[in-house]
Amino acid sequence: MAAQLIDGNALARQVRAEVATQVQALKAQGVVPALAVLLVGDDPASQVYVKHKVADCEGVGMRSILERLPASLSQETLLARIRELNVDATVHGILVQLPLPAQIDASQVIATISPAKDVDCFHVASVGALMVGLPGFKPCTPHGCMRMLQSAGVDPRGKHAVVVGRSNIVGKPMAMLLLQASATVTVCHSATPDLAAMTRQADILVAAVGKRNMITADMVKPGAVVIDVGMNRDTAGKLCGDVDFEGVREVAGWITPVPGGVGPMTRAMLLVNTMQAAQASLH
Ligand code: GUN
Repeated sequence: MAAQLIDGNALARQVRAEVATQVQALKAQGVVPALAVLLVGDDPASQVYVKHKVADCEGVGMRSILERLPASLSQETLLARIRELNVDATVHGILVQLPLPAQIDASQVIATISPAKDVDCFHVASVGALMVGLPGFKPCTPHGCMRMLQSAGVDPRGKHAVVVGRSNIVGKPMAMLLLQASATVTVCHSATPDLAAMTRQADILVAAVGKRNMITADMVKPGAVVIDVGMNRDTAGKLCGDVDFEGVREVAGWITPVPGGVGPMTRAMLLVNTMQAAQASLH
């Protein structure tokens, strides 16, 4: 029997509706939740992402401030702008779209964003809080994946979760959230000798590598939940994930599609975080 689909579009719609209700409640208290999005240069993919983020804000009644900055911008000018936004009480979230031009040190930029407005959850203080279980933002993609598990009725407690990929944005924080949910977590990466032997043990398998067809049907335990974080293009130029969807869906119990899976959830969780920042600003 083919796997059940976890529909990221439908779930994201639900999350946005929840956020929209909260936005109305905050507006009634005189606060308009606002996200500042800084785009440096004209990377085509980044332009599309940023456009979506701004449209998402509008969709739930939030304010967005999109700042398009020239590719030649100096690091000091960018840091100065972030410092202004840090102390602007009408702005609750700050997102600097990555990648940044070569003359700008991304780690310096992230370190300059106030942790209270760090809706990406990239600042070391945010990551540290996540690690030790203190309250704070959760990174958008892993948070969205956890919400997808929840929607499928999958409780990670006592399950073996295998995360393939160890990036700071997805793999590492994903492992941390699964651990906090009491899964037994294995993190695999490019130096893992027998990847298939590991992935076949997974009750929950998260693929976050960035390589098409990385996960094939023979690597999946029957009935497993497969979350595909990949964003790749196939030979025809069509968007696809890290998972061989057609093959794996015959083995897995649950599977997320690409497109229409993790992507829309990542965007929805950015709204959740901006909302959280705006609510925190009341206290
Ligand atoms: N570039 C690609 N993904 C992201 C993201 O989630 N946040 C930011 N700031 N830049 C990105």
